[in-house]
Amino acid sequence: MKILRSIFSVQKYIKQVRGKNKTIGFVPTMGALHQGHLKLVKEARRENAIVIVSIFVNPVQFGPSEDFKKYPRQIKQDSLLLDDEKVDVVFYPTVEMVYPRGYLTYVNVESVSEGLCGAYRPGHFKGVATVVAKLLNIIMPDAIYLGQKDGQQVAVLKRMVNDLNFPVKVKVVKTVREKDGLAMSSRNRYLNDEERQQAPVLWQALRSAQDMIRSGEYNSGKVVTAIMTHITEKSSAKVQYVCIVDKNTLEPLKECRKDAMIAVAVYFGSTRLIDNIII
Ligand code: PAJ
Repeated sequence: MKILRSIFSVQKYIKQVRGKNKTIGFVPTMGALHQGHLKLVKEARRENAIVIVSIFVNPVQFGPSEDFKKYPRQIKQDSLLLDDEKVDVVFYPTVEMVYPRGYLTYVNVESVSEGLCGAYRPGHFKGVATVVAKLLNIIMPDAIYLGQKDGQQVAVLKRMVNDLNFPVKVKVVKTVREKDGLAMSSRNRYLNDEERQQAPVLWQALRSAQDMIRSGEYNSGKVVTAIMTHITEKSSAKVQYVCIVDKNTLEPLKECRKDAMIAVAVYFGSTRLIDNIII
């Protein structure tokens, strides 16, 4: 496995393998890898001749009061995990390389970036779209692998790929969960014991909402209320939002129907957790 730090060296590598007509699967990450990330890597490995994983904590997608500085960085451990998955290349650039002095160009996917997390994290999806657009231009993969865990990110990036004609397939991988249902996330490590015990309440509330819908309750308002009540009665979490939206346009839905996404964001203390379910 090669660890490449410069854009030039990645582009040189791509040129070499492209000539051999090999497909390239790409998994963008911010590192601090867990089984969720590794599921994306395994899918990419299964479907492509070459697998490239980027590790880059992207400053542009963090708000001024968010955890950019505190975000876990563990390149040695991550490299070992990726080596075990038979990844070909880890692209591990520096901030100065991705955003050199004088950098001015950003990608803003309107509307889908604005609701849900976007409403509470202004500029976040502009940062995500910008860095992923740059990574796609550098790597030019055949397929990019994204996790359903970040449902809005999937919607934003699919829209960007379509709107800007990136010649890449977007592959979405199911959320990987702990045994008790908690969606794996690099931020779970910030939970204290009590919060960790309560955190599966998110998935439990989403599952009961799904049951409610299956048994005929389509009214989004009622389903949202049931989820909020479930979470607040069974945990100390503070709900930031519970929304039922179309999974592609992210427009709010009055009725829960096929392709609806129920998305939740809560705070356990200062730790923000998100989860979603597609109906
Ligand atoms: P990061 O949070 O490191 O996640 C990298 C990828 O792993 C994303 O596509 C995310 O949805 C996926 N992922 C995380 N937890 C998962 C889980 N439990 N199950 C399945 N997939 C999971 O998302 C980002 O980084 C960044 O915004 C990035 C796209 C790299 C742009 O900077």
